[in-house]
Amino acid sequence: MKLITIVGARPQFIKAAAVSREISKREELREIIIHTGQHYDKNMSDIFFQEMKIPSPHYNLHVSKGLHGASTGLMLEKIEEVLLKEKPDAVIVYGDTNSTLAGALAAKKIHIKLIHVEAGLRSFEMKMPEEINRILTDRISDILFCPTVTAVNNLKQEGFENFNCRVIKNGDVMQDAAIYYENISDATSSITQQLNLKDFVLATIHRAENTDSIQNLKSVIHALNQINKTIKVILPLHPRTKKALDASDIKVNFTIIEPVGYLDMIQLIKHSSLILTDSGGLQKEAFFFKKNCVTLRNETEWIELIENGFNILAGTDSEKILQCFSQMLGKKSDFNIDLYGNGKASKIIADELLKL
Ligand code: UD1
Ligand code: UDP
Repeated sequence: MKLITIVGARPQFIKAAAVSREISKREELREIIIHTGQHYDKNMSDIFFQEMKIPSPHYNLHVSKGLHGASTGLMLEKIEEVLLKEKPDAVIVYGDTNSTLAGALAAKKIHIKLIHVEAGLRSFEMKMPEEINRILTDRISDILFCPTVTAVNNLKQEGFENFNCRVIKNGDVMQDAAIYYENISDATSSITQQLNLKDFVLATIHRAENTDSIQNLKSVIHALNQINKTIKVILPLHPRTKKALDASDIKVNFTIIEPVGYLDMIQLIKHSSLILTDSGGLQKEAFFFKKNCVTLRNETEWIELIENGFNILAGTDSEKILQCFSQMLGKKSDFNIDLYGNGKASKIIADELLKL
């Protein structure tokens, strides 16, 4: 069976790494990877393929710039060309980026089976580009692999039981990646020594609502500057946030580093005292590596982390962030609970693909 996997952004490389490993173990399945080019810097793209030994993309569409409509449209056009040429039995898309939506539309319009991994998540914030991408992709998918019970329930709520599709709760493929790459990271990454890190908190910021609003960005940075007076703050800087900071007069007093590969990221997470982030993936990785998390957003798709007290929503208000930081730093949490499938999510996907 011929499968086409579509990836374009950093979190998708990590998700696809886990699933591709399982696909490659099954002789009946053959995978072709299309990289849309959405992320293109070496340390936002190549490093993941190299370090994680993800099969090299067969196609790179180099659609890296442009507004939402222009870039999604161009991806759609170029993906369709490849699909018409390769005639796959199914297309796999991940998550909620513009690459996801473009891949989903391209496949479905020419009647190729569409498989959505990380389906059913909702923030209920329609201003988020990701919310639009995931709702539209879910609606036209043939198989929807859901990471959590919440995701399955969201789909039920939207009437998916009445649609001609299959909803399968398989767990979270990012946990599979975390489990598999942890040992490799332990053996190979020296980032904490290189940066001489002892007590520190790890932060990331890249969501549109935080980078496109100067007010929100200022407020978050102000809070991190304050936290840095108590404990060192390390922030690998996403190119989107770099652009926003470069265009502003916001002063940063904490430590900024270039984006790092996944193997270094695992060490940063494991050695940190707390995570402060607006990233979706990092909220879960905090849990996988038994760290508490403060989320710099007003809502999250990963509500089971909030319900179990591992994560707290701080939004972007400086005072609220400082208050949440104090509450979560040093908080003793019992992380011994299976929220994300304990590493079997990718295997379930590959086994289901064999039944197509
Ligand atoms: C995208 C996804 C987001 C995901 C994030 C993961 C959409 C709408 N957003 O957001 O859901 O959480 O990836 O990191 O699909 N840039 C570079 N070099 C790169 C990558 C990006 O300079 O390697 C620049 C782009 O030119 C652009 C900006 O960063 O100006 C934003 O990139 P884009 O891919 O549009 O969105 P992200 O914020 O990365
Ligand atoms: N990540 C990484 N290096 C970095 C920052 C993030 O490897 O410098 C990883 C992070 O651990 C997560 C993934 O990239 O697994 C996706 O994170 P991102 O925040 O870019 O996207 P999101 O999950 O919010 O869509």
